[in-house]
Amino acid sequence: MNQDFKVIVADESHIGYAEEICIEMEESAKARGTGIAKRSPDYLKQKMMEGKAVIAFGPDDGWAGFCYIESWGHGGYVANSGLIVSPKYRKGGVAKRIKKQIFELSKKKYPDSKIFGLTTGLAVMKINSELGYEPVTYSELTQDEAFWQGCKSCVNYDILMSKERKNCLCTAMLYDPKDHYTPEETTKAFVKKEKIYERFLRFKQKKFMRNLKRNNFIMGLSGFFASLFL
Ligand SMILES: CC(C)(COP(=O)(O)OP(=O)(O)OC[C@H]1O[C@@H](n2cnc3c(N)ncnc32)[C@H](O)[C@@H]1OP(=O)(O)O)[C@@H](O)C(=O)NCCC(=O)NCCS
Repeated sequence: MNQDFKVIVADESHIGYAEEICIEMEESAKARGTGIAKRSPDYLKQKMMEGKAVIAFGPDDGWAGFCYIESWGHGGYVANSGLIVSPKYRKGGVAKRIKKQIFELSKKKYPDSKIFGLTTGLAVMKINSELGYEPVTYSELTQDEAFWQGCKSCVNYDILMSKERKNCLCTAMLYDPKDHYTPEETTKAFVKKEKIYERFLRFKQKKFMRNLKRNNFIMGLSGFFASLFL
């Protein structure tokens, strides 16, 4: 099945797919109850025209998946973001092929940049590990304000800010071209800890949501008491 897919660097001939891809990104985030940094169709079109995106097509020639590159901190960091696979083509290895290609494209375009990604999913953690990424703390990511501003449109932004940008529901993974483990090593480390990561992702989501609800409750209460004195 994997071979029936075409995975290529997107260009201006693909901008007609941007709207549909954008809608699917939002729908998928809603369906799995997680947040995303929202992107407009125009933003995706721009990425396609700049040759900073990878698009996959299925055997029926419909779009099968997408991902793009963003550069931050004056090129010191590159993020591979917005990975999406069309629901009808999931679990067929499409994401793996897209991530591999966007990773190679990132290294070619930005050979000295650290490559990172944020994810709430085990599948992406697995793929990243097979490429040589390792889990890192947020302090090791770009501190470029513009990158973090992108999180503003995510439903979990309050959580990120309540943690002073040191943590959130997403797990950060990074590949440093100058200092990294081999893909064999990072894959081995992931396999060893897969069950822990799975539990950790679930735990993190539950704990943060509980804290957020409690904070909202406290804020609501203080708002109520403040209104009594006005
Ligand atoms: C996450 C997503 C991109 C995976 O795409 P996909 O094409 O189904 O993934 P692949 O088939 O390449 O799977 C890669 C690996 O992850 C595993 N995997 C796939 N979906 C998984 C899931 N929901 N949970 C756990 N593992 C999963 C696969 O079994 C495969 O492992 P293997 O190599 O041992 O077989 C796709 O489900 C999607 O678009 N989801 C909605 C958007 C999203 O979550 N994007 C990621 C934002 S960071």
